[in-house]
Formats: sequence, structure tokens, C-alpha cells
Amino acid sequence: MKINTGMFHSWTITVFLLLTVLPAPAASSDTPKSLQFGNTLSDYVKFTPDMSRVKNAHTLCAWVRKMLSGTVRSWLTYTTIEHGYELLISDAGGYNYIHHKSYGVASRVTVPLNTWTHQCQSWSTSTGQMRVYYNGTLIGTNTFSNRAPLEEGGYILLGHDSGSQEESEVFGGQLLKLNMFGRVLSDEEIAGMYSAGMCSEFEKNFDDVRFITWERILSETKTGNVREVESGCPAPVEEEEEGEEEEGECVCPTHSMWDVLLEEKYLNQNMTEENLNELKSTWKILDNFVGSTITEGIVTHFKTLHPKVGSGCPVAEKKEGEEDEEESEEEECKCPTHSMWDVLLEEKYLNQNMTEEKLTELKSAWTILDHFVGSTITEGIVAHLKMFHPKVGGGCETEPDS
Ligand SMILES: *[C@@H]1O[C@H](CO)[C@@H](O)[C@H](O)[C@H]1NC(C)=O
Ligand SMILES: *[C@@H]1O[C@H](CO)[C@@H](O)[C@H](O)[C@H]1NC(C)=O
Ligand SMILES: *[C@@H]1O[C@H](CO)[C@@H](O)[C@H](O)[C@H]1NC(C)=O
Repeated sequence: MKINTGMFHSWTITVFLLLTVLPAPAASSDTPKSLQFGNTLSDYVKFTPDMSRVKNAHTLCAWVRKMLSGTVRSWLTYTTIEHGYELLISDAGGYNYIHHKSYGVASRVTVPLNTWTHQCQSWSTSTGQMRVYYNGTLIGTNTFSNRAPLEEGGYILLGHDSGSQEESEVFGGQLLKLNMFGRVLSDEEIAGMYSAGMCSEFEKNFDDVRFITWERILSETKTGNVREVESGCPAPVEEEEEGEEEEGECVCPTHSMWDVLLEEKYLNQNMTEENLNELKSTWKILDNFVGSTITEGIVTHFKTLHPKVGSGCPVAEKKEGEEDEEESEEEECKCPTHSMWDVLLEEKYLNQNMTEEKLTELKSAWTILDHFVGSTITEGIVAHLKMFHPKVGGGCETEPDS
């Protein structure tokens, strides 16, 4: 906690200095940018990376938005003196090359157009094995006999297959967070990166080996029609200022299961196996309620008797039966603290029959966090979970207020 505060502080100071010294960059530079590639062979980004720290073992990952059909549209080529395709990766499995040796997984994946897909490819000299992942899932492996390290001194070309003059092999889509790590990431780590989502900063968990970074790629020269575009991700979450509501309106977040992660116990803490098991096992308490109607009273009961997963605010005391709105004299704005039980106050559950199906959905939602054991839970991760897994309460805090 202290370390985090310190880091945040110095980060703030750094940014402040940069903003003071440099000509002010657009404020929107805070939101993660993707690169949109044009549809011709003249639209590309080409640069000469330092491959020394990734040559013996690497994992290359990116969020790829395929926008043109076909399986052999390549977004990355690494070309050296020896090999045209020291590395080659296409957007729908056609090519996954190493040392100019072909491997493809096109028959095993269907990549939809205009959708963000997470792709990774790893390889190491010690195993000679290439591993190819789509959306965090291992799709295929292939072992190559040539286990020489990657040749250094070549160039990376983004936007088309550098050895091809075919328009049909031009990428023409979008890339985001293309990073190259200097080791083989595990299945779990890659699944975690995918689950965390394109808007998360999960890749920073591997900053010690993140040697070719998206931040750097964005700063490389763009040739032809290659533009930075909004990725659709919110700017990294910063401390919110209190009392910004001008109309005195009371806007409480809607109830999301994920909100419990904003409690002190979890936020900016390492997610332990123990804490996750506690969260998971909590829904078991509901087993006895399948077929029963979930009432506010039951929710209050859960919060009182099982406060380990967030006690929430006490629900205002009510008389049995109907209650008049006039009774509430204070117009005070009291947002509840975060309780996992609060999600049961959503329309989907409250005064509804708790079905086996709904309960299973609640239970299985926590398995999404399996990949986060050992990682720090940030506000950004919570925002991501709410955005991409809203079945258990989407919340409204991340709503843009333009
Ligand atoms: C990747 O995930 C997206 C979003 O869920 C999905 O539309 C797409 O089909 C997935 N791609 C693959 C290859 O599984
Ligand atoms: C709740 O749903 C279950 C099956 O899903 C059904 O057997 C039961 O009768 C329902 N109870 C009520 C109160 O509607
Ligand atoms: C998180 O906890 C696990 C064990 O519970 C430990 O192995 C890991 O190093 C910790 N990570 C951080 C970032 O503190």
C-alpha cells in the first residue's frame, strides 16, 4: 500500500514536470491509442529493434482488429539478412513463422472482422517450440529443429508481409498493445492478459521482460496511411475528486459484484488464492436459496451475517409492508460501501426466483479472477471487469460524462 502510494506520487510529479517543460501534449494522449493501418503496401511502420534480449526466448502479443477478410494478412514481419521471415504473424492464423519456417493455425481459428482478438506467439531456443494463442487460449504448438537464437539487426515491419507485394496480404486493420517479452509466458499468464482485457495494463506485470513496447512502437515513424486512433479504452483511472456533482444529484453506482474489489481488503492488494476462494465460496451460501425469492431482507441478512465480502451500508430500516417515500426526511446522499451481496439488489435478482442458472453465473464469474491470483487488483481492472463482464452487475461509474 505504502509503496503504491509512493509510486503514484512520484509518477504524478514526473507527469507534472513533463507537462511543464514540454509543449503541452493533447490531454487525450492519456487514453491508450491503437494504430489504424491503411489498405496498401505503402502503409506501414518500420523500425529496427534491439533483439538481443528477446532472441533466446520471447512472447509476442498484440490486440489485433482484423478488418479485411482472408487468413494471410500479416501484421508483423521481422526480417533479417538470413531470413525474410525470421518472424511472421498473420491476423487469422495463416502464418506463424520462425527462422523462415512456416507454421499456420488457420484451420483452427475463426477470426471475426472488426473485433478485437488477442494474439500471442511464443518460442524459445531451449525447447524449439512455438506456441500460438488466440484470446488467451493455446491453439497450437509446433517444434522447430532450428533452435538458433533469433538473428539480430533486422527490421520489424508492421502493416503487411514484408516479403510480399500482394495487396491481398496487406493487414489493413488495427493494432493495440503490441509488446514483445523476453521470455516464454505461461499459459496462465497469457490467459490472464487476455482476461484482463485490452484496456487493462496487465502487460505491465511483465515489465521486467517487456523489451519491445507498444509505447515505443507508437513513437516510431509512420509511413503512408497509418494513424493513431482511439482504442475505445478509457484513460487510466486516476483519483477521483469528491463532490463533482453540480446539481446536488445523488448518483450512486448501480450494484456490481465486481465492486467488492474496491474494498480496502482487495484494492491495490495482491489477490491471494485465499481471498479468491473466500469470494468464490460465498455464493455457496445461496445454494439453499435456489427456488426462493430474493428479498431485500435476505440481502440485509447476508450482509450482516457474512460481512467478509463487504458489509455494505446498512439498508435503511423499514417497517413491514408498504413504505411511503415521504418518510425519508433527509435528502442526504449516502452511497453504500461495496458489498458483494449488493449485486442481488439488481433487478435481475431482487424479488425474483433465484434459479440454478443465475447462481451458476454468479459462481462462475469469480473464476475469471483465477488468472489474477498473484496480481495487484487495480481500479482499472475493476472497471474492465464491469465493462466486459456486466452480467453480474455492470455498474455505471465508468460512464463517460461528456
Ligand atoms: C476472441 O474474442 C472475441 C470477443 O469475445 C470474439 O468475438 C472472437 O470470436 C474471439 N476470437 C477467437 C479467434 O476465438
Ligand atoms: C423457482 O424456479 C424453480 C425452477 O427454476 C421452480 O421449480 C420454482 O417453482 C420457482 N419458484 C417460484 C416461487 O416461482
Ligand atoms: C502475491 O502473492 C503471491 C503468493 O501469495 C506471491 O508469490 C507473489 O510474489 C505476490 N505478488 C506480489 C506482486 O506481491
